[in-house]
Amino acid sequence: MLKKCWISLIIILVLGVSGCDKRVIDGQQVNKKEKIIIKFSHVVEENTPKGLAAFRFAQLISERSSGSIEVQVFPNSQLFKDGEEFEALNRGDVQMIAPATSKVSQLFPQWQIWDLPYLFTDLDSVHRIMDGPVGKELLNQLQEKNMLGLAMWDNGFKHLTNNEHPIIKPRDLEGLRFRIMSQGILEEQFYTFGADALFLPFNDVYKSLEEGRVQGQENTISNIYTKDFDRVQEYLTLSQHGFLGYAVIVNQELWNQLPSQARELLEDTLSEVTQWERAKARELNEEQLLELQKREKLKIYSLTTSEKSIWKDSFLPVYRKLEQEIGPEFLSNVKKQCEPIEN
Ligand code: LMR
Repeated sequence: MLKKCWISLIIILVLGVSGCDKRVIDGQQVNKKEKIIIKFSHVVEENTPKGLAAFRFAQLISERSSGSIEVQVFPNSQLFKDGEEFEALNRGDVQMIAPATSKVSQLFPQWQIWDLPYLFTDLDSVHRIMDGPVGKELLNQLQEKNMLGLAMWDNGFKHLTNNEHPIIKPRDLEGLRFRIMSQGILEEQFYTFGADALFLPFNDVYKSLEEGRVQGQENTISNIYTKDFDRVQEYLTLSQHGFLGYAVIVNQELWNQLPSQARELLEDTLSEVTQWERAKARELNEEQLLELQKREKLKIYSLTTSEKSIWKDSFLPVYRKLEQEIGPEFLSNVKKQCEPIEN
């Protein structure tokens, strides 16, 4: 069921524009009752790539619509936790979410390509997939569940933290339990090396590390830093083994009911913010690594290129597993498109 207040706003808007598609979105001309409210829920801190981009999007939309469209951002799982966001979007309790691709993969298994360890070696290959035919195909799948994927955002590459010992070789994972953000391939990558994996919503990670329910976790520098995981973890391995990105999603049915000019403004602004977000993500992850180094709480080890290639080879069983699940053609197509373009 869609939220009543949203329905009434939409009805006013749709009725108000019937027969006149050229309605100007202008706060001066729009009755306050006609205001479009978009609740944007996410689970991370404000000072993160997603948090800052959501805020920037809200600001630009407010300015450009002269206040007739208001994007209200709810960070930090304030409204809904992981696992609750999709339902909330479906019910119309929120109108926009930006879950990690791993969380989308719980509904659409092909999205697990984003979780394959060492599939993406740099951000260029990530963006080639996001912005190319594979990215489009993946976003199109969302329509099966009344969702529309409007953009793909970055956080960055994931690294490993734990509070037992330095992790340098794959076998160092053995016997440890890691928090994972969703089941499937992320579990497999830990099982492959005799480690255990426990799914937990992002909001519960700090406490679970503190209480020892899990000994480690994998995440980007930005999430490690802004959630203060270094207070409850001793070791950080800069492994860059996986990628964390986001899909920016709206409820398809509600979207279709918006006046075309509102949709156009939202889409154009989002694509501008997407470019900004990707640059910001890179910058924040670099800056926040320096901050973590300054805090001196974590013992940091950076895997060398040859160590990374040993890790990559050892993950072969994980690739096989995904191939069985989603078919070898899809994966080989992704791999091909990840390869650097020759000049
Ligand atoms: C996590 O659950 O660790 C991340 O997906 C959180 C996020 O949205 O970056």
